[in-house]
Amino acid sequence: MDNRPIGFFDSGLGGLTCIPFLHQKLPNEKIIYYGDTARTPYGSKSIENIRQFSTQIVDYLVSHDVKLIVIACNTVSATCIDLLKERFPEVPILGIIDPMARKIAEIGESKDKFGVIGTKVTISSGVYEDKVKMYNESINIHSLACPALVPLIEEGIINNEIMDLMIKYYIDDFQKKRNINKLVLGCTHYPIIQENIQRLYPDMELLNPSEEVINSVGKMLEEKGMLAEPNDSRNLCYASDLSENFLNMINLFFDNDSVDTDIMKFYD
Ligand code: DGL
Repeated sequence: MDNRPIGFFDSGLGGLTCIPFLHQKLPNEKIIYYGDTARTPYGSKSIENIRQFSTQIVDYLVSHDVKLIVIACNTVSATCIDLLKERFPEVPILGIIDPMARKIAEIGESKDKFGVIGTKVTISSGVYEDKVKMYNESINIHSLACPALVPLIEEGIINNEIMDLMIKYYIDDFQKKRNINKLVLGCTHYPIIQENIQRLYPDMELLNPSEEVINSVGKMLEEKGMLAEPNDSRNLCYASDLSENFLNMINLFFDNDSVDTDIMKFYD
């Protein structure tokens, strides 16, 4: 048993979409979350900057004695996981892409046409295609970058026609041309607009990596004998900017009295 918290991080509020699955599947676990809200989005930045930012965050989480770190960001998982594992060998680090790729390889049938949407950096890395092929050669996955979605989500522009138009602007042609019937939400911000996407494309099955990574967390902690027992520790959420939307999302995903929030910046 191990009651230390699990570290989660993302460029902003997207990684919080893992939390409902954590509460549902591993209710004793407590977390320390870091959202780099002042520097979001990462998905259109240079790999050099993403490496620098994510190294600072992991260093900070390690200093909080976390038992495991979840990279709750596809962009960082696509570009920095090897570097982060090498730099911080003292703590297990789990990326969000690998569990989803394994699941696709497992459930994929010959009739399926998989698609993945994500940030520019995630999509241009080709990581979903490569990993899925590695686990199951017979599956093809088509990918599409949707760079304007994250800034709208961080702004809280969700339940309205601007978001719907933006989704259609990206996905309409892609879906028709490729006949996509299963779509991976390859950015942790996208589950926040899952209802919009499902309403616009009711026949498409949506696959959520935030759920898959929590299944892997559970397996890993169980195998290592590191699951938490019931405990009264509080969850901690840090951000480089405590924006109104970040706080709204925290209220949505946590019981108000189980979480503390604070600001933490790695620069002046
Ligand atoms: N939520 C992130 C991801 O999964 C990053 C979004 C961004 O900062 O561009 O890729």
